[in-house]
Amino acid sequence: MIIIIDFGSQYNQLIARRVRENQLYCQIEAPTTAMDAIRRHAPQGIILSGGPCSIYEAGSPKVDPAVFSLGIPVLGICYGMQFMTAALGGRVQRAQKREYGFAELFVTRGDALFKGVDRATTCWMSHGDSIKRLPRGFTATASTANTAFAAASDARRRLMGVQFHPEVDHTPMGGVILKNFLFGICGCKRSWTMRSFARDAVAEVRRSVGDKKAILGLSGGVDSTVAAVLIHQAIGRHLTCIFVDNGLLRKNEAAELKETLRQHLRINIRFVNAAGLFLKALRGVTDPERKRKIIGRVFMDVFEAEARAIKGAEFLAQGTLYPDVVESVSAFGGPSSVIKSHHNVGGLPKRMKLKLVEPLKYLFKDEVRKLGRQLGLPDTLVWRQPFPGPGLAIRILGEITRRRLDILRNVDEILLDEIRKAGLYRKLWQSFAVLLPIKSVGVMGDARTYENITAIRAVTSRDAMTADWARIPHEWLARISNRIINEVGGVNRVVYDISSKPPSTIEWE
Ligand code: XMP
Repeated sequence: MIIIIDFGSQYNQLIARRVRENQLYCQIEAPTTAMDAIRRHAPQGIILSGGPCSIYEAGSPKVDPAVFSLGIPVLGICYGMQFMTAALGGRVQRAQKREYGFAELFVTRGDALFKGVDRATTCWMSHGDSIKRLPRGFTATASTANTAFAAASDARRRLMGVQFHPEVDHTPMGGVILKNFLFGICGCKRSWTMRSFARDAVAEVRRSVGDKKAILGLSGGVDSTVAAVLIHQAIGRHLTCIFVDNGLLRKNEAAELKETLRQHLRINIRFVNAAGLFLKALRGVTDPERKRKIIGRVFMDVFEAEARAIKGAEFLAQGTLYPDVVESVSAFGGPSSVIKSHHNVGGLPKRMKLKLVEPLKYLFKDEVRKLGRQLGLPDTLVWRQPFPGPGLAIRILGEITRRRLDILRNVDEILLDEIRKAGLYRKLWQSFAVLLPIKSVGVMGDARTYENITAIRAVTSRDAMTADWARIPHEWLARISNRIINEVGGVNRVVYDISSKPPSTIEWE
């Protein structure tokens, strides 16, 4: 396996993905991780990520320099390389101006890291500091117009660094460079497959849960469903799933999910219809964060009441994914500001004194889908677009009423129908409708109308951290808009959201 030390770069998850795409297991660790813990993982290579700090800044993240004498190859990227340089006796200087963007890269020395890389290629730079003198034993291996030390290595100790970012698509040869490190230099073998992951994860759940009971909140989404199947394989009837219908789901969704889950998962599932409770608690509420808090609280109450009825449950299973975990171990101890409070059952384990089982916590979303297929789940479940816990409540701007829920459900149904017909459902990360809290004037037949506006949101994304608005062909947008206005009473205008994330977010609230 490979260890990635997280110095806080926005790209560090991307490094992990690149490693995994090569069928190698990797884990991201905080710089404060003890060397003993790193040694215990027996990594074949270590990657020091980039980061936003200057190594001279107070409080900039540091890893124990003993990492350079473990005898394991180390690749420093950007800040990682600057840290390596300074720690081993070289000199790093604060640059006058940040180097950011594309740069021509010239490979100046035939080096194992650059095997098969053109002598002149493009790379992506994003750094403030720059290297003035290399540590003893190091030689420069690539340069740019701005620096003679765009890359350098100490072949004997197998320590190397690049000032650019090989993990981003903007560095076209980045994939080759990383492969050279992983296979040529670290000597890794492709060994990590979903089958091996599933086998190990089942064994691990069996070991940690033993003959105790576990409960799991099933949402019908990919993550919780895959987690449920995996845990079920490990502990069988000792797993009970709870599905709470909060009345904020899409049209027919609760019924369809119930049917699919029953058919494909021979698992204990308790279905709870709590729509009334949620709608009552949300009456008159318009603030997005308050909506989330209320939904979270009612969910906890309903879930807890159900869970307490399951005698002897000691574990709470969750489909937590790697991006959530990484944020909490990052160099700076997590995200600096809460943009939206997502986690719906955050407080439950403590309140009920449950231990957590999170078998997917090292996986990315696309890996979870692969795992789902490996475990035999049907495409309809594996390829479901993500759906937020608070559901339609955060897609109805303003107050949530039964009437507004009906309008949005009808709009959303048409939208999804057309998106599927256009063959776009799987290509889009998410596609949904939003009901706005304003009305506009229209004309229907000969009469004036004054009705609701809905917005269509469709985005492409890898992991929801960034997203781009989807370039849906105009003909399909036209069909969608026509059908919505003609078929859904109470809507006389449809708009298409052309904002990307950042600076917008995927959901409107
Ligand atoms: P944003 O809107 O923050 O969404 O760009 C990123 C992803 O998270 C989903 N989302 C939520 N999921 N509870 C959830 O379980 C929430 O409160 C919540 N808010 C947003 C959103 O659908 C997208 O996939």
